[in-house]
Amino acid sequence: MSATPLQALPIDELRQRSSTKWRKYPADVIPMFVAETDYGLAPAITRVLARAVELGDTGYTPPDPGIRDAFVGFAQRRLGWSVDPSHVFWTGDVMMGVVEILRLVISPGDRVVVTTPVYPPFFDTVEEAGGIVERVPLVRTETGFHLDLDGIEAALAGGARAILLCNPHNPTGTVHTRETLAALADIAERAGATVISDEIHGPLAYDPRAFTPFLAASDAAARVGYAVTSASKTFNLAGLKCAVMIAGATPQAHALQTLPWEVEWRTGLFGALANVAAYSPESDEWHDSLMAALTANRALLADLLADHLPEARYRIPDAGFLAWVDVSDYGWGDNPATKIRREARVALHHGPLFGDEGVGHVRINFACHPDLLREAVTRVGALAGGVTASN
Ligand SMILES: Cc1ncc(COP(=O)(O)O)c(C=O)c1O
Repeated sequence: MSATPLQALPIDELRQRSSTKWRKYPADVIPMFVAETDYGLAPAITRVLARAVELGDTGYTPPDPGIRDAFVGFAQRRLGWSVDPSHVFWTGDVMMGVVEILRLVISPGDRVVVTTPVYPPFFDTVEEAGGIVERVPLVRTETGFHLDLDGIEAALAGGARAILLCNPHNPTGTVHTRETLAALADIAERAGATVISDEIHGPLAYDPRAFTPFLAASDAAARVGYAVTSASKTFNLAGLKCAVMIAGATPQAHALQTLPWEVEWRTGLFGALANVAAYSPESDEWHDSLMAALTANRALLADLLADHLPEARYRIPDAGFLAWVDVSDYGWGDNPATKIRREARVALHHGPLFGDEGVGHVRINFACHPDLLREAVTRVGALAGGVTASN
């Protein structure tokens, strides 16, 4: 990649932020838990938000804030995905979109497949929609993590009505192949089930050609699917509250039109403004620079773990800035993040929250300055009695 890597903001500036990453723990803790990034905003986003503040433009989101056109353009340009504009809807955030779509497609008490280990709010969201979580764990092989298609088919044969897919997958960074997604769509269609694909990490695939939006995987995928996404993960806009829901085909678009109008009304105006700016061509260069920085960091993390935590198992993610690391060989208990935070003063995400498969694991957010990553892994390495020289 030829883009210049983005520079993370200096730590003293980051400590002035008021978001959860920087306020949850005391200042001597390096925060690498929640999925916020340490970069400044893309210039087009800064401009539009600064202007809105100047104008006191803090009212309600208008009926057509431009999200539809901006998203359709981004999908075509950056993801190679042609989206019918009449299939695009918006709401406050990705998990709000997921819960509303689940409410449309399941009845209370229906089972919904989730593929563990997975982003912890998936469990709560299924329950919020009245469903019951049915776990079908990912299968781990030499080449990485994969959907257990036979397991999912069995769950659907047993009555599960929907699959909540994470594409790409948090926390493993797996980019599911087109073939896998098409096979999943066939399985769902045969069972009369719906696939809801959370694609918030899609723009963070290191090889953009490898990422297949679920709805573009096959004709069957378009018939059985919905996708929910946002610029919020890539462009660090989570607090602004805006996400996009996409219907695979006309019947799903009609279903989304039946949602209470409050669902769209929950979209934050600053979120809408920022998503439109993020999805505009003006932000493509910033996006490339972000990916250059993350490309370097995902490799740096592998080197650091090899030096300081040689017993840790880490597979470099194919998408995203989250690393799923098995540190069970160190004997730090089922939830090593607790000991690491207390004793090494590094806050990592708790593996067991992602499902039983997360016992002995931590999730590391590496969207930060390389020096901060060095310091964090060095601290954890010292806990392991490994190399302790600070960098
Ligand atoms: C897979 C996945 N979905 C959703 C979210 C959160 O999105 P939102 O804040 O828009 O609900 C995250 C945040 O890290 C995530 O990793």
